[in-house]
Amino acid sequence: MHSPPTMSIRNIIDALRGETGFIYTAKARELSKKGFKVINFGVGQPDFPTPKHIVEEAKNALDKGFTGYTDVAGIPELRQAIADYLNERYNSDVKADEVIVTPGAKAALFLAFAAYVKPGDEVIIPDPSYYMYPEITKFLGGKPVYVPLKWMGGDKGFELDLNSIENSITSRTRAIVVNNPHNPTGAVFSQREMSKLLEIAMERNILVIVDEIYDNFVYDGDFKSFISFNNWRDYVVYANGFSKTFSMTGWRLGYLVVRKEVASKLTKLAVNIWTCATSFVQKAGVKALKNSWDSVREMIETFKRRRDVMVNELRKVSGVEVFKSKGTFYVYPNIEKVLKKMGIDVETFANRLLDEKHVVVLPGTLFSETELGKTFIRLSFALGEELIAEGIKRLREFVERL
Ligand SMILES: Cc1ncc(COP(=O)(O)O)c(C=O)c1O
Repeated sequence: MHSPPTMSIRNIIDALRGETGFIYTAKARELSKKGFKVINFGVGQPDFPTPKHIVEEAKNALDKGFTGYTDVAGIPELRQAIADYLNERYNSDVKADEVIVTPGAKAALFLAFAAYVKPGDEVIIPDPSYYMYPEITKFLGGKPVYVPLKWMGGDKGFELDLNSIENSITSRTRAIVVNNPHNPTGAVFSQREMSKLLEIAMERNILVIVDEIYDNFVYDGDFKSFISFNNWRDYVVYANGFSKTFSMTGWRLGYLVVRKEVASKLTKLAVNIWTCATSFVQKAGVKALKNSWDSVREMIETFKRRRDVMVNELRKVSGVEVFKSKGTFYVYPNIEKVLKKMGIDVETFANRLLDEKHVVVLPGTLFSETELGKTFIRLSFALGEELIAEGIKRLREFVERL
């Protein structure tokens, strides 16, 4: 008896890693159902509602019947608004026809990887990393080459290991991925690191796939956008989006910036998959870029205070070494001493903390193929200060009880 054709799905799909924190969030949901007060540091989105005027604009567009297909690359006013925003903010020279609007930054990144990574190509990925970069690389038949960040200790945090990146380049290297500000570590790589990375890419003729989705979540440090380099057009494909900055994760709106010739080619791939980003969501996107900066600033101030609370509380826990994130809404503390003392691995730590104290943290192994996952955990501070304090108190009780 043959297995039915619907079951003979390609192995490459089976091998994909799905939503990484799923087991922890599923377990958290079960515990909540049983009446436990779970504190979830696993969240990857702002806990703020989408600002009202953005919601109103989407409603207006719907009321006006703006519900048909749009241009594949997005409505002209949104492409222009994105170019204007980037140019004003980063002193760049992006043109509207270099912008492709996509259903989320993920879709933009998918276009970028699909356009350049062929079977056998190597893609250099600083580790730890956001999970989709290696997964999509493998899906396309490419090979992720992980280069661990340098862990400089609690005060200094993480740096790109530029020498190792350079030494990892082979004749098969197609691209280097850079996510800045960096999920999961909260690092903001410096202007010097970004310039040097571009220099390496230029010297070795390698593409840089840039993901700056957290570019508004910068609290300290000298953030330098890759789109502000003069010669970005030859070396950079740039992804960003609305999910985090405007608290619009479920709306699915992002964009890719690439040179014009590439943009028009990539619309051929986009039209074969999603045709266009949702029409009325694009209208809301124009409004978001034009009118939201007061609410964004307020949100970022709140996040900065939350970061301080989280870092201060974590620093009181013995054995935990924590770098004060410069960006994103995550901290990535090193708990090596705690794990040694408890004699457990980081996944057991996360599971037991959830079972016994009802606190979700994500083990670094979800983000890393190297040593930089085994002794770190990621905590999101996209929740209120009181919850943060309560959650870290429980973590401290869990760790110090022994
Ligand atoms: C580094 C990074 N890139 C991209 C995304 C996805 O963004 P979007 O919701 O726009 O697809 C996320 C979301 O968590 C992220 O952390």
